[in-house]
Amino acid sequence: MSAVITRDKPRIQLIIGTGREGRFSEKAAEWVTDRIAEREDLDLEVVDLRDYPLSFYDQPVPPAYGRRDYPAEAARWAEKIDEADGYLIITAEYNHGYPALLKNALDHAFPEFNRKPVAFVGYGNVGGARAIEQLRLVAVELEMAPLRHAVHVLPDVMRPVMQAGDAFDLELFAPLDQRLETAVTDLLWWARALAAARTAA
Ligand SMILES: Cc1cc2nc3c(=O)[nH]c(=O)nc-3n(C[C@H](O)[C@H](O)[C@H](O)COP(=O)(O)O)c2cc1C
Repeated sequence: MSAVITRDKPRIQLIIGTGREGRFSEKAAEWVTDRIAEREDLDLEVVDLRDYPLSFYDQPVPPAYGRRDYPAEAARWAEKIDEADGYLIITAEYNHGYPALLKNALDHAFPEFNRKPVAFVGYGNVGGARAIEQLRLVAVELEMAPLRHAVHVLPDVMRPVMQAGDAFDLELFAPLDQRLETAVTDLLWWARALAAARTAA
């Protein structure tokens, strides 16, 4: 899935954190993109991990060393991440943790994530809450600012969306519109504040 909405800053990337066939993450991304399209206070880019195939992490030098000397596949990913002022990550919960695909992608960059905010949209039996809590810890290690506000898509919304298949109605997500609005507004506050601070530094 790809979509770019270009307006004024901040630049927010919506990261689709799963890649399997029939994934829910793509449906959640469609809803988020639709709702954010009405806002004029950010630039949104959808970043689909399917479009950034990475090997399981095997580089000799950790990205945290800050050298940015990545192999080609990782460089393309890191350069994309570098463009953003903040991130909204859509995550599943796999066996009470975050998806390995997403963690592997996060492990492939470091300075590109530093001092930027991240908010989460999760889904599953407890709205992805366990995965999101773990991702907040990962984000701290990446020197990011993980935010309190999140969107938790519970089975009462998730199930009808999945049952509807490709032709699902975006309005099935309507009960979560306010949660998304709050999370995005907070994300933009932090994105602006930290962008200014990064520039000043
Ligand atoms: C390997 C695997 C493990 C799962 N573990 C959990 C879990 O721990 N908690 C949960 O709420 N759902 C779990 N599920 C169900 C997922 O919430 C559901 O399949 C969801 O659609 C997965 O996200 P995706 O469609 O974007 O891949 C699991 C699914 C898979 C494939």
